[in-house]
Amino acid sequence: MNSDSPLSNSAVPSLDQDTTKYTQELFSSCLEGLPTFEESRYNTSTSDDPAVKYIQPPNPGWKFGEKIESSDLGRKWMEGSKLEDDWEHFDADKEDNRKIYALMISGIQPRPIAFISSVSASGEENIAPFSFFQALSPSPPLIMISAMNAPRIKDTTTNIQATKEFTVNLISLPWIVQANAASIDAPAHVSEWEVAGLTKEPSTHVRAPRVKESAFSMECTFFDKYDIVHPDTGITASTITFGLIKCIHVRKNVLNARGVPDPAKLQTVSRMGDISYGLTTEAFRLPRPSWVADGEVIEKVLDKNRQLDLVGDNH
Ligand SMILES: Cc1cc2nc3c(=O)[nH]c(=O)nc-3n(C[C@H](O)[C@H](O)[C@H](O)COP(=O)(O)O)c2cc1C
Repeated sequence: MNSDSPLSNSAVPSLDQDTTKYTQELFSSCLEGLPTFEESRYNTSTSDDPAVKYIQPPNPGWKFGEKIESSDLGRKWMEGSKLEDDWEHFDADKEDNRKIYALMISGIQPRPIAFISSVSASGEENIAPFSFFQALSPSPPLIMISAMNAPRIKDTTTNIQATKEFTVNLISLPWIVQANAASIDAPAHVSEWEVAGLTKEPSTHVRAPRVKESAFSMECTFFDKYDIVHPDTGITASTITFGLIKCIHVRKNVLNARGVPDPAKLQTVSRMGDISYGLTTEAFRLPRPSWVADGEVIEKVLDKNRQLDLVGDNH
Protein backbone atom coordinates (compact mmCIF):
# COMPACT_ATOMS: atom_id res chain seq x y z
CA MET A 1 0.00 0.00 0.00
CA ASN A 2 1.16 3.52 -0.78
CA SER A 3 2.46 5.02 2.45
CA ASP A 4 0.67 8.29 1.63
CA SER A 5 -2.64 6.50 1.61
CA PRO A 6 -4.89 7.45 4.52
CA LEU A 7 -5.63 3.75 4.94
CA SER A 8 -2.02 3.14 5.90
CA ASN A 9 -2.49 5.37 8.94
CA SER A 10 -3.26 2.81 11.61
CA ALA A 11 -3.83 5.60 14.13
CA VAL A 12 -7.22 6.43 12.66
CA PRO A 13 -9.73 4.26 14.50
CA SER A 14 -10.93 1.35 12.40
CA LEU A 15 -14.21 -0.51 12.26
CA ASP A 16 -13.05 -2.82 15.04
CA GLN A 17 -12.64 0.05 17.45
CA ASP A 18 -15.49 1.66 19.30
CA THR A 19 -15.33 5.11 17.76
CA THR A 20 -17.96 6.44 20.18
CA LYS A 21 -15.16 6.52 22.78
CA TYR A 22 -13.24 9.12 20.77
CA THR A 23 -13.77 12.65 21.97
CA GLN A 24 -13.39 15.31 19.28
CA GLU A 25 -9.97 16.17 20.74
CA LEU A 26 -8.72 12.58 20.82
CA PHE A 27 -9.91 11.98 17.27
CA SER A 28 -8.09 15.10 16.06
CA SER A 29 -4.85 13.75 17.49
CA CYS A 30 -5.32 10.56 15.42
CA LEU A 31 -5.16 12.58 12.21
CA GLU A 32 -1.48 13.47 12.49
CA GLY A 33 0.45 12.15 9.51
CA LEU A 34 -2.54 12.33 7.13
CA PRO A 35 -2.39 14.86 4.29
CA THR A 36 -4.38 17.94 5.25
CA PHE A 37 -7.66 18.74 3.56
CA GLU A 38 -7.01 20.80 0.41
CA GLU A 39 -9.63 23.43 1.07
CA SER A 40 -8.68 25.66 -1.86
CA ARG A 41 -9.39 22.82 -4.29
CA TYR A 42 -13.05 22.66 -3.27
CA ASN A 43 -13.63 26.37 -2.96
CA THR A 44 -15.60 26.94 -6.15
CA SER A 45 -15.35 30.73 -5.84
CA THR A 46 -11.55 30.81 -5.87
CA SER A 47 -10.36 27.58 -7.53
CA ASP A 48 -10.01 27.30 -11.28
CA ASP A 49 -9.71 23.52 -10.97
CA PRO A 50 -13.09 21.84 -11.06
CA ALA A 51 -13.78 19.93 -7.82
CA VAL A 52 -14.92 16.99 -9.95
CA LYS A 53 -12.56 16.30 -12.80
CA TYR A 54 -13.97 14.47 -15.82
CA ILE A 55 -11.68 11.75 -17.17
CA GLN A 56 -12.05 9.02 -19.81
CA PRO A 57 -13.82 5.85 -18.66
CA PRO A 58 -11.66 2.79 -18.01
CA ASN A 59 -11.12 0.56 -21.05
CA PRO A 60 -12.50 3.11 -23.55
CA GLY A 61 -11.89 0.73 -26.48
CA TRP A 62 -14.11 -1.98 -24.98
CA LYS A 63 -16.45 -3.76 -27.44
CA PHE A 64 -19.75 -5.49 -26.61
CA GLY A 65 -19.22 -9.07 -25.39
CA GLU A 66 -15.54 -8.59 -24.53
CA LYS A 67 -14.49 -10.18 -21.25
CA ILE A 68 -13.00 -8.20 -18.37
CA GLU A 69 -9.60 -9.78 -19.07
CA SER A 70 -9.41 -7.71 -22.27
CA SER A 71 -7.80 -4.95 -20.17
CA ASP A 72 -4.81 -5.04 -17.85
CA LEU A 73 -6.88 -3.53 -15.09
CA GLY A 74 -9.52 -6.22 -15.54
CA ARG A 75 -6.96 -9.06 -15.66
CA LYS A 76 -5.38 -7.89 -12.42
CA TRP A 77 -8.79 -7.46 -10.80
CA MET A 78 -9.72 -11.08 -11.56
CA GLU A 79 -6.49 -12.38 -10.06
CA GLY A 80 -7.97 -12.31 -6.57
CA SER A 81 -11.01 -14.39 -7.53
CA LYS A 82 -9.79 -17.67 -8.99
CA LEU A 83 -9.26 -20.04 -6.07
CA GLU A 84 -11.80 -21.13 -3.49
CA ASP A 85 -9.27 -19.82 -0.97
CA ASP A 86 -9.61 -16.34 -2.49
CA TRP A 87 -13.11 -16.00 -1.00
CA GLU A 88 -14.70 -15.64 2.41
CA HIS A 89 -18.35 -16.59 2.75
CA PHE A 90 -20.59 -15.25 5.50
CA ASP A 91 -23.74 -17.21 6.24
CA ALA A 92 -26.17 -14.59 7.51
CA ASP A 93 -28.06 -17.18 9.60
CA LYS A 94 -24.91 -18.23 11.46
CA GLU A 95 -22.85 -15.06 11.61
CA ASP A 96 -23.05 -12.53 14.45
CA ASN A 97 -25.42 -9.86 13.11
CA ARG A 98 -22.94 -7.12 14.06
CA LYS A 99 -20.56 -8.65 11.52
CA ILE A 100 -23.28 -8.73 8.85
CA TYR A 101 -24.10 -5.10 9.65
CA ALA A 102 -20.41 -4.14 9.38
CA LEU A 103 -20.12 -6.00 6.05
CA MET A 104 -23.27 -4.38 4.71
CA ILE A 105 -22.38 -0.79 5.56
CA SER A 106 -18.83 -1.15 4.26
CA GLY A 107 -19.76 -3.24 1.20
CA ILE A 108 -22.89 -1.45 0.03
CA GLN A 109 -21.24 1.86 -0.73
CA PRO A 110 -21.00 4.66 -1.60
CA ARG A 111 -24.41 5.52 -0.19
CA PRO A 112 -26.14 8.88 -0.49
CA ILE A 113 -26.96 10.51 2.84
CA ALA A 114 -30.31 12.06 3.73
CA PHE A 115 -30.09 14.71 6.40
CA ILE A 116 -33.57 14.66 7.88
CA SER A 117 -35.26 17.50 9.69
CA SER A 118 -38.46 16.62 11.53
CA VAL A 119 -40.71 18.03 14.25
CA SER A 120 -42.29 16.13 17.14
CA ALA A 121 -46.00 16.26 18.02
CA SER A 122 -45.13 18.78 20.74
CA GLY A 123 -43.09 20.94 18.36
CA GLU A 124 -39.48 19.88 19.17
CA GLU A 125 -37.27 20.20 16.14
CA ASN A 126 -34.88 17.37 15.28
CA ILE A 127 -32.16 16.63 12.73
CA ALA A 128 -30.20 13.44 11.94
CA PRO A 129 -28.36 11.82 9.01
CA PHE A 130 -29.53 8.56 7.37
CA SER A 131 -27.54 6.69 4.75
CA PHE A 132 -30.09 3.91 4.27
CA PHE A 133 -31.67 6.33 1.84
CA GLN A 134 -32.69 6.19 -1.79
CA ALA A 135 -34.71 7.85 -4.55
CA LEU A 136 -37.52 5.44 -5.46
CA SER A 137 -39.86 6.86 -8.04
CA PRO A 138 -40.13 10.05 -10.10
CA SER A 139 -43.92 9.92 -10.43
CA PRO A 140 -45.08 10.07 -7.75
CA PRO A 141 -41.77 11.56 -6.58
CA LEU A 142 -40.77 9.24 -3.73
CA ILE A 143 -37.77 8.72 -1.51
CA MET A 144 -37.18 6.27 1.35
CA ILE A 145 -35.12 6.16 4.49
CA SER A 146 -34.66 3.19 6.78
CA ALA A 147 -34.13 3.74 10.50
CA MET A 148 -33.11 1.01 12.90
CA ASN A 149 -35.32 0.66 15.96
CA ALA A 150 -32.64 -0.72 18.29
CA PRO A 151 -31.35 0.20 20.79
CA ARG A 152 -34.07 2.88 20.60
CA ILE A 153 -36.68 4.04 18.14
CA LYS A 154 -35.16 7.06 16.41
CA ASP A 155 -36.79 10.41 17.11
CA THR A 156 -36.91 10.92 13.33
CA THR A 157 -39.18 7.86 12.94
CA THR A 158 -41.42 8.86 15.85
CA ASN A 159 -41.69 12.45 14.64
CA ILE A 160 -42.53 11.56 11.04
CA GLN A 161 -45.20 9.14 12.16
CA ALA A 162 -46.68 11.76 14.48
CA THR A 163 -46.61 14.81 12.21
CA LYS A 164 -46.43 13.17 8.75
CA GLU A 165 -43.91 15.73 7.52
CA PHE A 166 -40.14 16.15 7.17
CA THR A 167 -37.42 17.60 4.99
CA VAL A 168 -34.53 15.75 3.33
CA ASN A 169 -31.40 17.83 2.91
CA LEU A 170 -28.43 16.68 0.84
CA ILE A 171 -25.14 17.21 2.59
CA SER A 172 -22.38 19.07 0.79
CA LEU A 173 -18.72 18.97 1.75
CA PRO A 174 -18.53 22.39 3.51
CA TRP A 175 -20.97 21.28 6.23
CA ILE A 176 -20.18 17.58 6.63
CA VAL A 177 -18.67 17.98 10.11
CA GLN A 178 -21.82 19.76 11.30
CA ALA A 179 -24.03 17.05 9.75
CA ASN A 180 -21.95 14.30 11.33
CA ALA A 181 -22.25 15.95 14.74
CA ALA A 182 -26.03 15.90 14.44
CA SER A 183 -26.01 12.07 14.63
CA ILE A 184 -25.20 12.37 18.35
CA ASP A 185 -27.43 10.42 20.73
CA ALA A 186 -28.13 13.57 22.73
CA PRO A 187 -30.73 13.62 25.53
CA ALA A 188 -34.15 14.98 24.58
CA HIS A 189 -33.61 18.46 26.06
CA VAL A 190 -30.53 19.08 23.85
CA SER A 191 -31.17 20.54 20.38
CA GLU A 192 -29.11 18.84 17.68
CA TRP A 193 -29.56 22.00 15.61
CA GLU A 194 -27.53 23.87 18.22
CA VAL A 195 -24.97 21.08 18.73
CA ALA A 196 -24.35 20.97 14.98
CA GLY A 197 -24.48 24.75 14.55
CA LEU A 198 -26.83 24.49 11.57
CA THR A 199 -29.41 27.05 10.44
CA LYS A 200 -33.17 26.53 10.16
CA GLU A 201 -34.90 27.89 7.07
CA PRO A 202 -38.73 27.84 7.16
CA SER A 203 -40.28 25.38 4.69
CA THR A 204 -43.15 26.31 2.42
CA HIS A 205 -45.21 23.08 2.46
CA VAL A 206 -44.32 21.38 5.75
CA ARG A 207 -43.69 22.42 9.35
CA ALA A 208 -40.19 20.92 9.57
CA PRO A 209 -37.60 23.53 8.57
CA ARG A 210 -35.07 22.79 5.89
CA VAL A 211 -31.34 23.20 6.47
CA LYS A 212 -30.16 26.51 5.06
CA GLU A 213 -26.63 25.17 4.53
CA SER A 214 -28.00 22.49 2.16
CA ALA A 215 -27.92 23.41 -1.53
CA PHE A 216 -30.53 20.74 -2.33
CA SER A 217 -33.48 20.15 0.00
CA MET A 218 -36.77 18.32 -0.43
CA GLU A 219 -39.91 19.00 1.55
CA CYS A 220 -41.73 15.71 2.05
CA THR A 221 -44.94 14.38 3.45
CA PHE A 222 -45.35 10.88 4.88
CA PHE A 223 -46.41 8.54 2.04
CA ASP A 224 -46.23 5.13 3.70
CA LYS A 225 -44.14 3.04 6.04
CA TYR A 226 -43.00 -0.54 6.17
CA ASP A 227 -42.01 -2.14 9.46
CA ILE A 228 -39.24 -4.69 8.99
CA VAL A 229 -40.17 -7.53 11.33
CA HIS A 230 -37.35 -9.94 12.11
CA PRO A 231 -38.53 -13.39 10.94
CA ASP A 232 -36.96 -15.15 13.96
CA THR A 233 -37.68 -12.79 16.83
CA GLY A 234 -40.83 -11.04 15.63
CA ILE A 235 -39.25 -7.75 16.69
CA THR A 236 -39.75 -4.69 14.48
CA ALA A 237 -36.06 -4.19 13.75
CA SER A 238 -36.23 -1.22 11.40
CA THR A 239 -38.84 1.07 9.92
CA ILE A 240 -38.76 2.22 6.34
CA THR A 241 -40.41 5.58 5.79
CA PHE A 242 -41.51 6.54 2.31
CA GLY A 243 -41.65 10.27 1.68
CA LEU A 244 -43.61 12.05 -1.03
CA ILE A 245 -41.65 15.03 -2.34
CA LYS A 246 -43.79 18.18 -2.30
CA CYS A 247 -41.14 20.76 -3.12
CA ILE A 248 -37.45 20.82 -4.08
CA HIS A 249 -35.23 23.78 -3.17
CA VAL A 250 -31.99 24.08 -5.14
CA ARG A 251 -29.41 26.81 -4.83
CA LYS A 252 -29.01 28.48 -8.22
CA ASN A 253 -25.22 28.52 -8.02
CA VAL A 254 -25.01 24.70 -8.05
CA LEU A 255 -27.02 24.33 -11.25
CA ASN A 256 -25.50 23.59 -14.65
CA ALA A 257 -26.70 24.97 -17.98
CA ARG A 258 -29.40 22.28 -18.15
CA GLY A 259 -30.84 23.47 -14.82
CA VAL A 260 -29.84 20.41 -12.78
CA PRO A 261 -27.15 20.16 -10.09
CA ASP A 262 -23.59 20.06 -11.34
CA PRO A 263 -21.73 17.45 -9.22
CA ALA A 264 -18.62 19.66 -9.11
CA LYS A 265 -20.68 22.43 -7.53
CA LEU A 266 -23.05 20.40 -5.35
CA GLN A 267 -20.14 18.47 -3.78
CA THR A 268 -22.35 15.93 -2.03
CA VAL A 269 -20.70 13.62 0.46
CA SER A 270 -21.36 9.88 0.53
CA ARG A 271 -21.10 7.19 3.19
CA MET A 272 -18.23 4.84 2.40
CA GLY A 273 -18.44 2.36 5.28
CA ASP A 274 -17.90 2.50 9.03
CA ILE A 275 -17.00 6.13 9.85
CA SER A 276 -15.65 6.93 6.37
CA TYR A 277 -17.10 9.57 4.09
CA GLY A 278 -16.33 9.96 0.41
CA LEU A 279 -16.19 12.86 -1.93
CA THR A 280 -16.33 12.32 -5.65
CA THR A 281 -13.33 14.06 -7.16
CA GLU A 282 -13.17 12.24 -10.51
CA ALA A 283 -16.01 11.14 -12.73
CA PHE A 284 -16.41 9.68 -16.19
CA ARG A 285 -19.40 9.36 -18.45
CA LEU A 286 -20.67 6.25 -20.27
CA PRO A 287 -23.61 6.30 -22.70
CA ARG A 288 -26.61 4.10 -21.89
CA PRO A 289 -26.44 1.28 -24.48
CA SER A 290 -29.41 1.09 -26.81
CA TRP A 291 -30.46 -1.70 -29.12
CA VAL A 292 -31.45 0.80 -31.81
CA ALA A 293 -27.93 2.25 -31.86
CA ASP A 294 -25.87 -0.87 -31.27
CA GLY A 295 -28.11 -3.96 -31.75
CA GLU A 296 -26.73 -4.83 -35.18
CA VAL A 297 -23.12 -4.71 -34.01
CA ILE A 298 -23.97 -6.72 -30.89
CA GLU A 299 -25.71 -9.48 -32.95
CA LYS A 300 -22.59 -9.83 -35.11
CA VAL A 301 -20.22 -9.96 -32.10
CA LEU A 302 -22.34 -12.56 -30.31
CA ASP A 303 -22.56 -14.68 -33.49
CA LYS A 304 -18.80 -14.55 -33.87
CA ASN A 305 -18.24 -15.46 -30.19
CA ARG A 306 -20.66 -18.41 -30.47
CA GLN A 307 -18.78 -19.70 -33.53
CA LEU A 308 -15.45 -19.42 -31.69
CA ASP A 309 -16.98 -21.35 -28.75
CA LEU A 310 -18.12 -24.13 -31.13
CA VAL A 311 -14.63 -24.38 -32.62
CA GLY A 312 -13.25 -24.58 -29.07
CA ASP A 313 -15.66 -27.44 -28.23
CA ASN A 314 -14.28 -29.58 -31.05
CA HIS A 315 -10.81 -29.69 -29.52
C1 LIG B 1 -23.57 9.27 8.07
C2 LIG B 1 -24.54 8.61 8.97
C3 LIG B 1 -25.52 7.82 8.43
C4 LIG B 1 -26.46 7.20 9.26
N1 LIG B 1 -27.43 6.43 8.70
C5 LIG B 1 -28.36 5.84 9.49
C6 LIG B 1 -29.38 5.05 8.90
O1 LIG B 1 -29.47 4.89 7.66
N2 LIG B 1 -30.27 4.46 9.72
C7 LIG B 1 -30.23 4.64 11.09
O2 LIG B 1 -31.08 4.08 11.80
N3 LIG B 1 -29.28 5.40 11.66
C8 LIG B 1 -28.35 6.02 10.90
N4 LIG B 1 -27.39 6.80 11.48
C9 LIG B 1 -27.44 7.06 12.91
C10 LIG B 1 -28.43 8.17 13.25
O3 LIG B 1 -28.10 9.38 12.59
C11 LIG B 1 -28.38 8.41 14.77
O4 LIG B 1 -28.84 7.26 15.43
C12 LIG B 1 -29.17 9.62 15.22
O5 LIG B 1 -28.89 9.85 16.59
C13 LIG B 1 -30.65 9.44 15.06
O6 LIG B 1 -31.24 10.64 15.50
P1 LIG B 1 -32.73 10.79 15.98
O7 LIG B 1 -33.00 9.84 17.13
O8 LIG B 1 -32.78 12.23 16.39
O9 LIG B 1 -33.63 10.50 14.82
C14 LIG B 1 -26.40 7.39 10.68
C15 LIG B 1 -25.38 8.19 11.22
C16 LIG B 1 -24.47 8.79 10.39
C17 LIG B 1 -23.38 9.63 10.99
